[in-house]
Amino acid sequence: MGDRIHLNTAGAGLVPAEVRRAMAEVLDREAADGCYETEEHYSPVIGEEVYQRLARVLDAPAEDIALFDSATRAWCAVVPKLRLGPADRVWVTPYEYAGNLISLFSLRDRTGCRIEVVPTLPGGDLDLAWMAANIADDVALVSVTHIPSGCGIVNPVEEIGRLLAPYRCFYAVDACQSVGQLPVSARRIGCQLLTGAGRKFLRGPRGTAFAYVAPELRAVLATDFHDLHVARVDSPTGYRIDDRSARSLELAERGTAATVGFNTALTLFEEGTPFDHKDVFQALRATVEATPGTELIVPGTDQSGIVSFRHEHVPAEVIRARLAERRINVWKIVGHHTPIYMAQRGIDTAVRASVHYYNTPDEIEVFGRALRAAVGAGA
Ligand SMILES: Cc1ncc(COP(=O)(O)O)c(C=O)c1O
Repeated sequence: MGDRIHLNTAGAGLVPAEVRRAMAEVLDREAADGCYETEEHYSPVIGEEVYQRLARVLDAPAEDIALFDSATRAWCAVVPKLRLGPADRVWVTPYEYAGNLISLFSLRDRTGCRIEVVPTLPGGDLDLAWMAANIADDVALVSVTHIPSGCGIVNPVEEIGRLLAPYRCFYAVDACQSVGQLPVSARRIGCQLLTGAGRKFLRGPRGTAFAYVAPELRAVLATDFHDLHVARVDSPTGYRIDDRSARSLELAERGTAATVGFNTALTLFEEGTPFDHKDVFQALRATVEATPGTELIVPGTDQSGIVSFRHEHVPAEVIRARLAERRINVWKIVGHHTPIYMAQRGIDTAVRASVHYYNTPDEIEVFGRALRAAVGAGA
């Protein structure tokens, strides 16, 4: 792990040595043998194995899994293609990720659909009673972020899935910050879309991401293009689609090294003993809470992985820089990445510290001393 304390898995996890080695092997082979030839060599891994592994991790059928280079690309391969109209309502929560919101606002501007924000209870939990009372068949899409980018609330995605099941709406879950740190089962959630990134709690390389897209959702998308891994021009005037699995949403070109690296990360994840970082997480939260002048940003009853906070006098970027001088990685988050919730709280910037199973109680102690020094409360 080197000599840094990495409290930024919510940005990107530390890539295990095995992943780095697997990727280096691909690059060496590409340089020696050629890229297409290397792709052929790895085709059982990048054409089959990685989908099977993801399917097991997400508890979803392999033919419903697609790979992308970012979670936003995964989302944009599906949501903007929904055929909505002015009679349709779309529900988001205050914890929605800004990139998802931009694509929804653009969808609204094109189709006339209405976007409504699910209210929260005073403590920050989603108001499930409001959802139960207001759900109806004019709701076409419900989007829930499992754990948001800016704070650690764990939204009850399975309970929401049960509530939505009798209705017409599609259910989308952004699992970017949860896959790899919590059990995530697309089947139990009952969603039709689930998106995530490889680089965070799964510890895959950058440029890897995925979506589970249920067949009933794929069937209604206004997909305007199919790439050559799934379609062929079979006459001077037309083409046919040979593969209607979720891969039909992908583009044909992608990095072999990244895909092989991601497969290795998934292998380690599957083979690893189940981990529990609750103690370290509680210690992190208690440490921040005990630091004079800090305000925790921890809405909701159920929390995991991420503790965000700000200080009454010391700006987030200064705290981050002072911790970095002591070789501790945290991140400065900006309110407009989780815009609805952060605007409600009046938060422009904050510090985000996130833990994974490789963080230890000793590291949290070192972090605590460094944080107290960073805010002038004594080391
Ligand atoms: C909750 C959430 N959703 C979506 C994304 C977007 O992921 P990507 O940067 O891979 O597009 C992020 C990124 O941090 C995120 O935290």
